[in-house]
Amino acid sequence: MRRALVIGNWKMNGSSAENEALIKGLLPISAFLAESAVCVPYIYISQVNALLEGSSIGCGSQDVSVHDKGAYTGEISASMQADLGIGYVLVGHSERRQYHRESDELIAQKVIAAQSAGLKPVLCIGETLEEREAEKTLDVVGTQLQTVITAIGDSGLDNLVVAYEPVWAIGTGLTATPEQAQDVHQFIREKLGSAGEKIQILYGGSVKASNASDLFAKADIDGALVGGASLKVDEFTKIVEAATASQ
Ligand code: PGA
Repeated sequence: MRRALVIGNWKMNGSSAENEALIKGLLPISAFLAESAVCVPYIYISQVNALLEGSSIGCGSQDVSVHDKGAYTGEISASMQADLGIGYVLVGHSERRQYHRESDELIAQKVIAAQSAGLKPVLCIGETLEEREAEKTLDVVGTQLQTVITAIGDSGLDNLVVAYEPVWAIGTGLTATPEQAQDVHQFIREKLGSAGEKIQILYGGSVKASNASDLFAKADIDGALVGGASLKVDEFTKIVEAATASQ
């Protein structure tokens, strides 16, 4: 059986004082059965890791370099992140695809870099509103996923989380209906082949305490990647609670 997983994506938010208050507020979710983690700006990984010590909440990052070391100003390698003791790394988030022009090929290389250092990549895929309206959702998501599957091969599927995040639902307050999300999740699982049974597939895009349970009730939705609501103790706690109840 797949364990429910809820990951918070803080994006470029936080300060030393805010992080401390947020993590202290979140510590009780450590007792829930669902797996949970927060993906924080690189610069706060050490602080957040220290605050999370002794809890079961994981700490992750939001990106990774394809290079291991050298003259790549501003980049952070997977081995450096492993050295700090993080577990997860978000790869191919739509904001990276959009604002940093990350291609499917580059994203596949990032997945490989993360896996080589022992980190668990959370591969983010999803269509824009234009693509959905043109009924291209499965084509777009299929291509994004296939590029990575081809690059990592079957063995790479042993260490992967997939997050389906329709771009039109991110930060907009619009959520895919549980049925819309389930259709795409089922397609993703089938595409992953026999490994798909074990791979956690998360939904992301305006997940909140009020819609989490309905999403988690669907057979192929194993949890959530949560942006805005992950910055609020009450909201994030209720989402992890809902994931636990769905187990
Ligand atoms: P949101 O962000 O929950 O604020 O829509 C989700 C994400 O970008 O991962």
